[in-house]
Amino acid sequence: MKIFVAKDYQEMSKKAAGIVASQVILKNSAVLGLATGSTPEGMYRRLVEMGREGAVDFRGVTTFNLDEYLGLDPGHPQSYHHYMYRHLFDHINADPAKIHIPAGNARDMASYCREYDEKIAAAGGIDLQVLGIGGNGHIGFNEPGEYLKTGTHVVDLTEETVEANSRFFASREEVPRQAVTMGMGSIMKAGRILLLASGKGKARAIKDAVSGRVTTRIPASFLQLHRDVVLILDEEAAALL
Ligand code: PGA
Repeated sequence: MKIFVAKDYQEMSKKAAGIVASQVILKNSAVLGLATGSTPEGMYRRLVEMGREGAVDFRGVTTFNLDEYLGLDPGHPQSYHHYMYRHLFDHINADPAKIHIPAGNARDMASYCREYDEKIAAAGGIDLQVLGIGGNGHIGFNEPGEYLKTGTHVVDLTEETVEANSRFFASREEVPRQAVTMGMGSIMKAGRILLLASGKGKARAIKDAVSGRVTTRIPASFLQLHRDVVLILDEEAAALL
């Protein structure tokens, strides 16, 4: 595990964007696993700038997003579909046919999840997976529990996650209780993993994630078993290391 401590959010975002951009520069047909949430917003802003400056060309890139709320229409302002277009896809030259974001409203979720995994495999797997981390140690929406699942699946969100996500909704009641998420298998099979964390609310989860112990109670702790993980933290997120 390589750990970079950036002085603040801005620097974290710039470093992360640099790593994503170099992946795309080195392999124009790169397969990127993408994350949503507050954390990668600055990274996407920087990638959009780099695209505009002509420093990186996204035309050949295939993307797979980690997760989506269950039951939210893609047009819902809090859906991760909406997020991804607003922060990235509306502003770069990626090919819409190569963008994949799990649908939270498929009629048959079980077959949908299977097909999502098949598409990742057919694309050759993920070259670079971007991750945030929940205050409870989740990655994607792989929540702490007795076991973790390998494939894409529907998950019940923990109360902690519902609470954390309620800041984006008018009321707590509106926060979806379920989501569809890529499983630990697709994440762990990625060639390289780039995890970003910012703020003191993430410090405990980061400490537990790199502690030397692997437990389903801290899904991010499994990253210690991956051969190529880069953590980019700001000073607050790194405070307990
Ligand atoms: P955040 O979410 O970036 O909005 O903090 C991260 C996560 O829950 O994975």
